[in-house]
Amino acid sequence: MSRLPLVDGVLTYIKEKNVPFCMPGHKGGLGFLKTAKGRELYENFIKGDITEVDGLDNLHHAEGIIKESQQLLSSYYGSIKSYFLVNGSTSGNFTMVFSTFKEGDKIIVERNCHRSIFNAIIMRKLKPVYIKNKINSKYDVPFPFDKESFLYLIHENKDAKGIIITYPNYYGICLDLPYIIATAKKYDIKVLVDAAHGAHFGANKLLPENPLKMGANMVVMSAHKTLPSLTQTAFLHVGEDIDISKVDFYVSAFLSTSPSYMFLCSMDYARFYIEEYGENDYEELIKICNLNRVKINKLDKFHILGQEDLEDVSGNSIKYINKYTLDLTRYILNVPKGYSGHKLLEYLRINKIQAEMSDSRNVVLIFSPFTKQQDFEKLYLALKDCDMESLKEQYVQIIDYDIPSQSMFPYEVMFREKTIVELKNSEGEICAEAIVPYPPGIPIVMPGERLDEYNIAMIIYYLKYNVTVLGVNDGKVAIVK
Ligand SMILES: Cc1ncc(COP(=O)(O)O)c(C=O)c1O
Repeated sequence: MSRLPLVDGVLTYIKEKNVPFCMPGHKGGLGFLKTAKGRELYENFIKGDITEVDGLDNLHHAEGIIKESQQLLSSYYGSIKSYFLVNGSTSGNFTMVFSTFKEGDKIIVERNCHRSIFNAIIMRKLKPVYIKNKINSKYDVPFPFDKESFLYLIHENKDAKGIIITYPNYYGICLDLPYIIATAKKYDIKVLVDAAHGAHFGANKLLPENPLKMGANMVVMSAHKTLPSLTQTAFLHVGEDIDISKVDFYVSAFLSTSPSYMFLCSMDYARFYIEEYGENDYEELIKICNLNRVKINKLDKFHILGQEDLEDVSGNSIKYINKYTLDLTRYILNVPKGYSGHKLLEYLRINKIQAEMSDSRNVVLIFSPFTKQQDFEKLYLALKDCDMESLKEQYVQIIDYDIPSQSMFPYEVMFREKTIVELKNSEGEICAEAIVPYPPGIPIVMPGERLDEYNIAMIIYYLKYNVTVLGVNDGKVAIVK
């Protein structure tokens, strides 16, 4: 008999019944079971796997129920037009980039933007100028960029056509978006926001604000990450000063011509849920998150970051105070220096708690209104019983770096022949593949940038401490021939 490795793997995972402190936002279906309509949908999902038959509209030419549902989405989030995406925020980021910029445009982008943004930059043949993310050295947590770097960069690159912002980052940290948008507008620079982790923003005043309400030109949100919607579903919202006909074209180009009605229905439901229940349910969730944060912090073993921990990390300026805000519906569970976030994630998994991700000193947990107090209780008990000795690991300090000089644009690298050389012999060469240590997940060298004495030493430093460095294999790196 032939095997079913994938099916068996998933079924085994389901049987383990881990507490899901991770995506998707519906938390094992509970988000659908919350309402009568959601329950009906949940019970009929497989029967709802249909195609564009009469009366059920067409995603690529919406005139009926899909159009109406997208209009409700648009009016809830406050966009000029909104779209359902059946290929995740990935397809939304592609659409944003392609419909806003043309070949050869210069854009400003965070150094550790999601790879869908970076891939779109290559495919659209854009000229990126990178803005450096900050690291909070007390907790070794990546922060967004600071105002001073932003102002410097925007002043030096007045010809940039746009800036792409990640809001929030994977840790739930948000930068001062109103400030960024107001400044960018003065320079006629468009602001595109990758809010993949922020589909719930604005539902309650205790949450960070929805970027459309702050004047972003375009916004992408993964419905599946935080709302009761199926994995792979996302929203694209269009704000002011965007050519909608271009968005119509590219959104259709990047989506399947056979969209899943299960996906579409779950997005309609996610919007309904957040509109009808969001305000109350997030009030309740944040209350529970805060109470349990205090309780866990009192164990005096771990530290869950709060708003008070997001002090300005720019350090060298009192002129530009950086106002970071935290999404209180996720935990950045920090271990002291000399202990391992990865080991803590593994410990939690053994204790049937599935966290979203870890880095060397942190575990990120994502909650939703469907996370129950008993789930938090389970987390508390596991952390209380955790033997700190078992989490010990040598501390590796994350070091700050300068962005290397760019000799070629990333799309130009794509068309060049490449070769593999020893890292130690690569000084002066043009890098062909991003070199990214995890943590902090911020590239040291990007394709098209030059390897130099300084960044090679930094890569060697991370390798020496057994940090995973993407782009380095057996001490070798890819360079342009
Ligand atoms: C910041 C960010 N943007 C975009 C994406 C892509 O989202 P999706 O998985 O919905 O395609 C992710 C996925 O993790 C992300 O973290």
